[in-house]
Amino acid sequence: MSDTVYADPGYRDLDVGTIMREGHPDIAEGDEHIVSAVRKLRADLGRPLRVLDVGSGSGDLSLMLARALPDCEVIANEIAPNPLAQARAKLAGRPRARVFDRPFEEWDEPVEVVVSWGSHHHLAHDYLRHVRRVLTPDGVLVIGDEFCPEYLTAEDRERLARAEEVLLVDGYVFDSAAAAEAYRASGEVPEWSLRLERDRRRALWTWYKFVGDHAAARGAWPVLIAELAIARDDLVTGNAEEHKTSPLLLERELALNGFAVHDKTVIGDRDPALQSFVVYTCRAGA
Ligand SMILES: C[S@@+](CC[C@H](N)C(=O)[O-])C[C@H]1O[C@@H](n2cnc3c(N)ncnc32)[C@H](O)[C@@H]1O
Repeated sequence: MSDTVYADPGYRDLDVGTIMREGHPDIAEGDEHIVSAVRKLRADLGRPLRVLDVGSGSGDLSLMLARALPDCEVIANEIAPNPLAQARAKLAGRPRARVFDRPFEEWDEPVEVVVSWGSHHHLAHDYLRHVRRVLTPDGVLVIGDEFCPEYLTAEDRERLARAEEVLLVDGYVFDSAAAAEAYRASGEVPEWSLRLERDRRRALWTWYKFVGDHAAARGAWPVLIAELAIARDDLVTGNAEEHKTSPLLLERELALNGFAVHDKTVIGDRDPALQSFVVYTCRAGA
């Protein structure tokens, strides 16, 4: 955590969340989609909701939610000092909004909505189990991320569909606990996991070049500079704090954690190699 752009003291005077909404593709559109998904749940359930925004960053989306849903309780959950201070300041005038400044895994109150927006690729993926524990029976997980544009093949998808567990160890994907254990014991990465990682890096690089060009074309130099650091972190296979994987992989992880996807919205109407942002609305199923 200490050396990501979110925690780096060099970014203390910069609100990374806010600049990204201007100079980075697809984030502002995702915000709008998430706010309307939560507003719809508020209308469907007919009662004020408690909404937890996990990895809220500097609180831009939390503030949008608090404004759009004035009778709901909005909790911005963040642990890195710079964005935490920024989120506190943004939410200060909102009586029903608050900040939870410990790791999400320590949150233990029931909530109707967990929003995970851009945070999935920063967290150990087993946080999805904790989401299930804290969601009310009628609750919803709205999970959107900047994914690595899809790099899994139809065969990979079939293989994952047969997997009873999906694990990410040192940045490599394993489709069974036994395969992960064998890797831990021998240090040898199976051919399939190596190939997925190679394809991930290629797809990521295409995406980051597009993001960089998008920022440069708008003169959004702080965004480009931050993205160069983020791209470097992400391309380092074992960097657990910045590791974007594929939408299909998340879909399998959601199913394995007992979530049913009710809506899937892809942001950005372009070539699939340049489609990174996807937002899912999920309910706890069986
Ligand atoms: C890309 S940022 C999310 C951006 C933010 N959701 C927004 O809308 O601007 C991911 C954030 O997750 C936070 N994070 C990482 N691990 C966490 C944890 N265990 N609990 C809460 N937040 C965490 C990081 O500090 C980082 O600020």
